[in-house]
Amino acid sequence: MKPTAKFISFEGIDGAGKSTHISYVAERLQSALSVHQVQVVCSREPGGTPLGETLREVLLQQKMHLETEALLMFAVRREHIAQVIEPALSRGDWVISDRFTDASFAYQGGGRHLSLEKLDALEQWVHPHLQPDLTFLFDVPLEVARARLDATRQLDKFEQEKADFFFDTRNEYLRRAAQFPARFRIIDSTQSIEAIRRELDGLIDTLVATSMVSDE
Ligand code: TYD
Repeated sequence: MKPTAKFISFEGIDGAGKSTHISYVAERLQSALSVHQVQVVCSREPGGTPLGETLREVLLQQKMHLETEALLMFAVRREHIAQVIEPALSRGDWVISDRFTDASFAYQGGGRHLSLEKLDALEQWVHPHLQPDLTFLFDVPLEVARARLDATRQLDKFEQEKADFFFDTRNEYLRRAAQFPARFRIIDSTQSIEAIRRELDGLIDTLVATSMVSDE
């Protein structure tokens, strides 16, 4: 038996705690897949390529027209898919991305009110046939996310947004999770790190088990 390549994305509003769990999932997956000579490729958006990382600096620091922001997010994504995601999946490797297109729907669509039709059109253009196999949505009430952000670091352009921006961003994430229930797993991120890890362990074990196909 051999695992088929999978694409996993991590999502959530700023301060939801997803970053804490990505390295845990990556390590656990890598130890399950090493025996099959499969690598786990960890990446992020905006970013993931040298060009993408350069544009990330611009996107996270500079103010710009909403549509410019959305177009740049998808330009970064186009490069990321071409350089990282598709080559890895074609090799049979697994990909973990810290954010993908759901973030554009949530932030530019929900938070900033760009029309979902425009985002649908960009998605159809940039990746008509590619979707994550599994999306972990780390969900917390806004007050919890804000308290975590304030406690940790210097805030970037998005993190400085007001509560109603994050209210709308979170709602769009939850709307998408309801729209695509087969792909999304909502993680209640108010739980302890240990409780979330136990939940993730079960989800990862199931994913690895269901990815196995006969290699004859
Ligand atoms: P984030 O993933 O939270 O990284 P860090 O944990 O290092 O702060 O930062 C990326 C920011 O970019 C986040 O605020 C969401 C935003 N973003 C969008 O607005 N649209 C997108 O399509 C993507 C991928 C991210």
